[in-house]
Parts: sequence; C-alpha cells; structure tokens
Amino acid sequence: MRGTIGLIGRSQESARLAAVLAEQATTRSLVVTGEAGVGKTELLTHLATDAAGRGWQVLRSTCAEAEQQYPYSSLDQVLRHLEGHVGSLSDHQRHAIDVALGREAADGPAAVPTLGAAVLDLLNAAAVRSHCLVVVDDVHWADDAGAAVLVFVARRLGPGSRVAMVLGARTGEPTRIDTGGIDHLDLTPLDPPSAEQLLSALHPDLSPDQKSDVLDRAAGNPLAITELPAWPSTVGTTVGTTLHPAADPALPCPAASSRCTRASSRDCPPTSRRSSCSLRSTARRDPTGTPATGPRRSRRRGAAASSTSGRPPVGPGSATRWCAPP
Ligand SMILES: Nc1ncnc2c1ncn2[C@@H]1O[C@H](COP(=O)(O)OP(=O)(O)OP(=O)(O)O)[C@@H](O)[C@H]1O
Ligand SMILES: [Mg+2]
Repeated sequence: MRGTIGLIGRSQESARLAAVLAEQATTRSLVVTGEAGVGKTELLTHLATDAAGRGWQVLRSTCAEAEQQYPYSSLDQVLRHLEGHVGSLSDHQRHAIDVALGREAADGPAAVPTLGAAVLDLLNAAAVRSHCLVVVDDVHWADDAGAAVLVFVARRLGPGSRVAMVLGARTGEPTRIDTGGIDHLDLTPLDPPSAEQLLSALHPDLSPDQKSDVLDRAAGNPLAITELPAWPSTVGTTVGTTLHPAADPALPCPAASSRCTRASSRDCPPTSRRSSCSLRSTARRDPTGTPATGPRRSRRRGAAASSTSGRPPVGPGSATRWCAPP
C-alpha cells in the first residue's frame, strides 16, 4: 500500500537531481542534505529509478553508523559493484583497491588520491558500457578514509563525464565528511499542499480536525506525517489514541521514528531526554523552547553539537530536530 504512493511534490528538487543525468549536465555530482525524515532517501530512490529507466547503471550504497569506525566501510558496497573492472587497473591501483576491500595487508591506509584515482578509473571503465550513477546515502556516517575518497571522486565528475554521483547526508549529525566544492541541495520540509496530499494518501480515515492537527505538528516532515497518526500520546494531547482508532499506547516505538528521537536526544535539554516514543517537536515558533501545547520544532544548536563530538554537523541549515516529550 505504502509502495504505491510514490514521490509526492518535490518537482523542483527532483528536477535538480535529474539534472546530473542530463546529456548537457553542468555538474555530475550533488549532495542532498536535510533533517531526519525530510525525504532524502525517497528522493534518491526516485532518482535511481529515473536513471535506471534511462538505461544508466545504478550503484547504490548506504553508510551505517555501526561501521563508521572501519576504514573504507563506506566504499565497500560501491567497490563490490565494480569488481569486474579491477583487471583494467594498474598493479598499484589494484593493490589500493584490494587494501580497501581488506584483501591485502598494508602498513596504513592507501593515500586518498591513489585510491580516489583507482575508483574513478573503475567507474569510468564500468561506464563504457552505459552511464553510471553512484548513489551513497547517509554519508554523515561514512568512515573518514572512505568519505575522503567519495568526495575526491565526486569533485572530479564534471560535464561530459559518463559517471554521476549523488550523496545523501542528514544535517545536524556530527561528521567529518567535508563536501565542500560539491553542489548541495538542502531539502526543506514538504510544502503544505504536498504534506496534505501525503497525509491523505497514508491516512485517509482522519477527520479534517485530526488532519490539521497532524499537519501542524508534522510541519512538513514526511516521516512525521507518516507516523504521527499512529502514535500514542504521552503528553496529554490528541495525537495517537484519539486520532487513530488503531493506536495502542502499549505499542513499541515505530522503528523509523526512533531515528528522529534518537538523533534529537543529543540536542534536547536533559529533562527532554526520554526513551518515550511520543513525538513532539520543539521551538519552531518559539526559539526559547518554552513548553507549549502545540508542536514546535527546535533549530539544532550546531555549535553545541560540535563541541561534544568534535565533529561539525553537515550542511548549512543544520536544521530541525524532533524531541521526545519531557
Ligand atoms: N515526497 C515524498 N512523497 C512521499 N513520501 C515521502 C516523501 N518524502 C518522504 N516520504 C516518506 O517519508 C518517510 C521518510 O522519508 P526518508 O526516509 O526519505 O527521509 P530521510 O530524509 O532519508 O530520513 P533519514 O535522515 O532518517 O534517513 C519515508 O517513509 C518516505 O517514504
Ligand atoms: Mg534516509
């Protein structure tokens, strides 16, 4: 049922992404940034489908937070797609690839330019058959060495290249990936008509009042629109049991939404750090964070986040966070 909805809204954004595939593309690389649940992966999936429909080879990969400490883990999936072309590399480059894949020992990590050039050559070799689109999602979790290679490659994909690369990164996450020099698309929340369309498609049984309550709380965040109606409320307001007859306060936290509350817990004041599953946003309208009955969203305190982790957040907007209720 969910799979039939497809991409709602986002016409400008999807056109911007599709531009990297155009014959006369002025750039072949792009970083898509945005807050948790804003729709980065949905948009990347749309692009991947578009590219495959045009006959492009699509190499998709997703970085995992659990593997952030492992050198080259963020390259692993991409390199495995390209293994058939390793024979076209020089011994020096092949050694760098084998080290990155953990097949050969080395005293230390391969130099970024060496491995980057090897990955570029592999991609170009693969693209002789048909154009190649590389999509790497969640690069805020990329390991340092792999991230450096990914952006090294992305910076070198100019007009005329048969290879394109699009990276997805959540804003506000501490990360060391430096995507400077690559075009950015900062994904903002859905516009009100698109938000309403998504809610109606997902939850057609809500009353007009309930819809408007969810839309107000979600503030255009598609993940919130998807999940808020089914959430039990722990703050005495209407979302959950009163909104949705199927909602059960004993239900566990929906997996997708835990990414929002988990991400937010680093930013929220200690009194807000709860494992509760109820989703409430803070401070969209009230930057002081004063409690209110309605939903509010918080602007992430990027400086505070950097100081605790030593890593700056991705992206300029560094955006909004959902907070668990006090
Ligand atoms: N434009 C859209 N049309 C329809 N559904 C959407 C749209 N944008 C997002 N969604 C849906 O909203 C949910 C959250 O989107 P998505 O997973 O793409 O967010 P994200 O930005 O990748 O979040 P994260 O930072 O946690 O990875 C998904 O269920 C997705 O299918
Ligand atoms: Mg995503």
